[in-house]
Amino acid sequence: MRLAAAAFPALRPMLHALDAETAHRLTIGGLALLPASSVPHSDPRLAVTAFGLRFPNPLGLAAGFDKNAEVPDAMLGLGFGFTEIGTVTPRPQAGNARPRLFRLPEDQAVINRMGFNNDGHAAALKRLQARVQRGGIVGVNIGANKDSADRIGDYVAGIEAFARIASYFTVNISSPNTPGLRALQSRAELAQLLARLNAARQAAAMKPPMLLKIAPDLSGEELEDIAACCAEGAVDGIIVSNTTLSRPGLRAPLATEQGGLSGAPLLELSTRQLARLFLLTGGRIPLVGAGGVHDAASALLKLRAGACLVQLYSALVYRGPGLVTEILHGMAEELDRSRGTLDAIRGRDAAALAHHSGSGR
Ligand code: FNR
Repeated sequence: MRLAAAAFPALRPMLHALDAETAHRLTIGGLALLPASSVPHSDPRLAVTAFGLRFPNPLGLAAGFDKNAEVPDAMLGLGFGFTEIGTVTPRPQAGNARPRLFRLPEDQAVINRMGFNNDGHAAALKRLQARVQRGGIVGVNIGANKDSADRIGDYVAGIEAFARIASYFTVNISSPNTPGLRALQSRAELAQLLARLNAARQAAAMKPPMLLKIAPDLSGEELEDIAACCAEGAVDGIIVSNTTLSRPGLRAPLATEQGGLSGAPLLELSTRQLARLFLLTGGRIPLVGAGGVHDAASALLKLRAGACLVQLYSALVYRGPGLVTEILHGMAEELDRSRGTLDAIRGRDAAALAHHSGSGR
């Protein structure tokens, strides 16, 4: 995988000359062709234990990059401590009309309105079964078909389909690109969703940990509701956050495209929400920080806001695969400097970051 990292600076101008989705397809195709490599060794001080899993390091690939489980091993081979496939829905679906993925280089950001384009449960399951012996932490991010008559039933079907093979589940109720999906974050609907999912997990032979993935655009009251619904073991962790519908101070001409914004401009909002949730949950629920991570400093900021694990996606578009080892080195250097541990960093600045300026949401 060192090859992929070394080749990226030369390939980037070519990839960025293409429509963003075509470039992404080519990237996945190229990664799938690379010979399987061994997983790089992580500094043992970066290992994290959360929801019963031992992560070699806290940096993961966020959902949406490898929607159909085509390249989990290539991504683990880049040095990620874990990878998350999906979002997958029970039936394959085409998603929204193209173009639906936009680079905003002036802002180091991405806007997408993909709409859960994916090959469906069966195809992803087959690919995961074919690589299961390789090990590594591979989460499965589940969602609902756009035209589903029973959306909660679609999530239950996800649990049933992947319970034997997922290292963990992510219940994605925060995509802005499936109309009405985010309503599942409201207190009444969420309580019902989690009750049905936990019943399905009890019935399954294996019971992988289950994380909830939330939007960054929730009000203080909505965040309180999430914290209340997730207490007492209803979920094993929470990912903060998905993409935002807000458009914080963008310069790129494509800023007016509809969809979810990710990348650098999401860092402040998603980190503030993460810190707030850390305080609301008293640090009792493991949190995964996603949104705008693009270097070691921003990854460490997520930990200081209360995350025990971190995910990224958009920064790969601009920085390429070498970013993974760069961030891990930066984290290890911080531990050298502070003579500390990741545990000591976790949540250290949550109070300050929760009140950090911004939209006042
Ligand atoms: C995403 N994201 C996403 N999340 C999810 O739960 N299911 C999905 O299918 C997708 N799809 C998706 C596609 C594209 C093109 C992007 C850029 C993002 C959201 C992603 O996992 C992450 O939460 C956000 O992008 C914030 O992290 P970054 O990108 O700022 O590091």
